[in-house]
Amino acid sequence: MNNRRNWLKQIGLATVGIGFSSFETFANPPFEDYILPNPDKSPIFLRSNENPYGPSPLARAAMTKSVNSSNRYGWDLSSELIALLAKKNNVADNNILLGAGSTEILDLVLQYTALEKGNFILAETTYNYWTFPSEKLGIKKITIPLTKEKKHDLTAMLAAIDSNTKMIYICNPNNPTGTICERENLVSFIKEATKKAIVFVDEAYIDFTKEQSLSNFVIENKNLIITKTFSKMYGLAGARIGYAIANSSTIEQLSILKSSPNLSLTNVSAAAAIASLSDEKFIQQVYEANAAVKKYTIDQLTQLNLNCIPSHSNFVYFSLDNYKKDFFKQLEDHNIMGTKIYEENGKWTRITIGTMKEMQQFIEAIK
Ligand SMILES: Cc1ncc(COP(=O)(O)O)c(C=O)c1O
Repeated sequence: MNNRRNWLKQIGLATVGIGFSSFETFANPPFEDYILPNPDKSPIFLRSNENPYGPSPLARAAMTKSVNSSNRYGWDLSSELIALLAKKNNVADNNILLGAGSTEILDLVLQYTALEKGNFILAETTYNYWTFPSEKLGIKKITIPLTKEKKHDLTAMLAAIDSNTKMIYICNPNNPTGTICERENLVSFIKEATKKAIVFVDEAYIDFTKEQSLSNFVIENKNLIITKTFSKMYGLAGARIGYAIANSSTIEQLSILKSSPNLSLTNVSAAAAIASLSDEKFIQQVYEANAAVKKYTIDQLTQLNLNCIPSHSNFVYFSLDNYKKDFFKQLEDHNIMGTKIYEENGKWTRITIGTMKEMQQFIEAIK
């Protein structure tokens, strides 16, 4: 009970009277010990949608232990991880390809689709760092505006497909807006669009929702590729672990572009991923903490008259149109790292959900 109270206090939930029954059954050692120290001078990172609670306790222990096996190549650990990921996603081992973060998968899919040149389609605004090499690779980028609710405009994306389209990227939930596609719409979009091109669905933030992954559709559909990451919900951004889920023939095609498929992870990272998958309690705690702190943040921003998009993720997209001060100067003065203006029209920005204490500091900083 003490552990629970201390932890709630540490993340600040106790002060707003929020508690969770599942917190009563905290793992031993307690979650509170695993919040990364934030020394006074260190900035508050609300920039990259990282998990502020760090890796799970089981992952930390596994990483420490696995250091000793770093003299060996990690084929066995990779195979073990692939088998676990296949089971978790309801697919077979040959439907999985590991990457050093999902960035490696994003790069690989871009290279693969660029082999035949043509174009690819994505939303404006969405996660797009991985598209920067597209011009050099000789594949043209086509952007389709979001709807006014900041959702993917699947109808317009479908209409934009032409005979040169090689791939359509859907980030679900979408970064930076936090919106999701209605499942029925997305499923029928995939059915139609994959007749003509690859549909690449980025599920980096799916664990923050109750949505079901589209993973098992890959069994029947060679033109659907899904990517997932351990960087967000699992708190392992610095460990660099991601993967693709696709039809076995598509995984084979992607693998041809790699000299050593499935060997990008270090043994330490693979051990962390394996241990994380067994730590369901930690995942539940992070899910609940994120939901509570997100609610607090959106309530506070709304009270400040700032328009927020309902978020299905661990960040919030909001408009600075009604904000009278210099938002980024306020952050800088309080040693808080935010992001940028994503859309000039409406001055939309994004803030990552940190711990309750961090978000209270953020709200104080911009008041
Ligand atoms: C939507 C999305 N996809 C992929 C990534 C890349 O994640 P990683 O390479 O750490 O797996 C990010 C990182 O912020 C992201 O927001």
